[in-house]
Amino acid sequence: MLDVVNIRNDFQILKTGVIYLDSAASSLTPEPVIEKMLEFYRGYRANVERGIHRLSQKASDELLKARRKVQSLINAGSDSEIIFTKNTTEGINSVANGIEWNKGDKVVTTLLEHHSNLVVWQRAARRSGLKLELVQPDKEGLFNIGDFERAIDEKTRLVAVAHVSNVLGSLLPVKEITKIAHTRGAEVLVDAAQSVPHMPVDVRALGCDYLAFSGHKMLGPTGIGVLFVGEGLLKSLEPFCVGGGTIEEGGLEDYELGPSPARFEAGTPPIAEAIGLGGAVDYISKIGLGEIEKHERGLMEKMYSGLSGISNVEVYGPSDPKKRAGILSFNVEGMGPHDVAAILDNTAKIMVRSGQHCAMPLHTKLLNRPNGTVRASIYVYNTKEEIEKFIATVDEISRTLA
Ligand SMILES: Cc1ncc(COP(=O)(O)O)c(C=O)c1O
Repeated sequence: MLDVVNIRNDFQILKTGVIYLDSAASSLTPEPVIEKMLEFYRGYRANVERGIHRLSQKASDELLKARRKVQSLINAGSDSEIIFTKNTTEGINSVANGIEWNKGDKVVTTLLEHHSNLVVWQRAARRSGLKLELVQPDKEGLFNIGDFERAIDEKTRLVAVAHVSNVLGSLLPVKEITKIAHTRGAEVLVDAAQSVPHMPVDVRALGCDYLAFSGHKMLGPTGIGVLFVGEGLLKSLEPFCVGGGTIEEGGLEDYELGPSPARFEAGTPPIAEAIGLGGAVDYISKIGLGEIEKHERGLMEKMYSGLSGISNVEVYGPSDPKKRAGILSFNVEGMGPHDVAAILDNTAKIMVRSGQHCAMPLHTKLLNRPNGTVRASIYVYNTKEEIEKFIATVDEISRTLA
């Protein structure tokens, strides 16, 4: 079992008495990860891949180690498939801008996507004449696989889906979707922003072609993310940013791109952040993603049954705990989501997110809640007692209107 008391000792912010239920927006960062970044600044602060002196060599070694840690975390076949980005959004944009589209190509995505996996495709449709089709889930955010069978046709170039909904917490059948897409000749991009931090994710088992996630949601620093690109696509995907570090040969009029990952990482990378992400991978791996998933599932069952038991609280997402991750959105009848969030903070130091969570179509078309929802999301440092306090506070808030 996960030792939550010990884990909490690594998070200074928790010592201020806050109850942090906003990890889906951004997680907290433990001391060993902060230390790992300070080690770079204090001990070997230099550029990477650009110097033969010892500091540059050490920085380059540490960057490579971080890349290999990420490779192992998601079971990628080689470290050249791991491209450091700024965040999930940049990773998805890199794919949208790196594929050479033909007019009439089709992209299939879903109605529950975060804007980072929707607006990107809407823009590509606008610019390149793509056809976009959105598969619709049921009210709980669960899909009928037959709807993907119907939507993915021989014109489909790419299927771009979330692994876990950032509003409903529902799990998407990514492996099954990938199988269908590949039989029809389409590639698959997985937005893993809400899965990689919380459960074992294996790109080879999923079979996906691209997978994007963010360091700041998995105990790492801000400003660093990862785009996995399968070996077979590394040459055909055009980097959307070129310059220092990306080329093999350069002349007066032309250039030749070098191998991955350098070809995709133009300019000086976020070195401290990448090394910090490596530290976060170590931290998570030491606890074990299976243990993290189990811990969150236990807390989520408690949170779901507690909130659903309050008469004027409406809870969204799957009722079956096996079909959801540690994200729960809800509304208190007669009260705006921002008001509920502000009261939770002001009265009990409970941090949640409120609004549309960058998922407007989901709120307007699926939930019919244009003002949004309140979202509580959990992670490795949350406790049973915090969830109990949260439920009791929402209960009190709901009674103020009764
Ligand atoms: C499912 C999902 N996709 C993409 C993103 C965008 O992540 P970032 O802001 O780190 O690029 C988020 C962030 O909340 C998310 O939850």
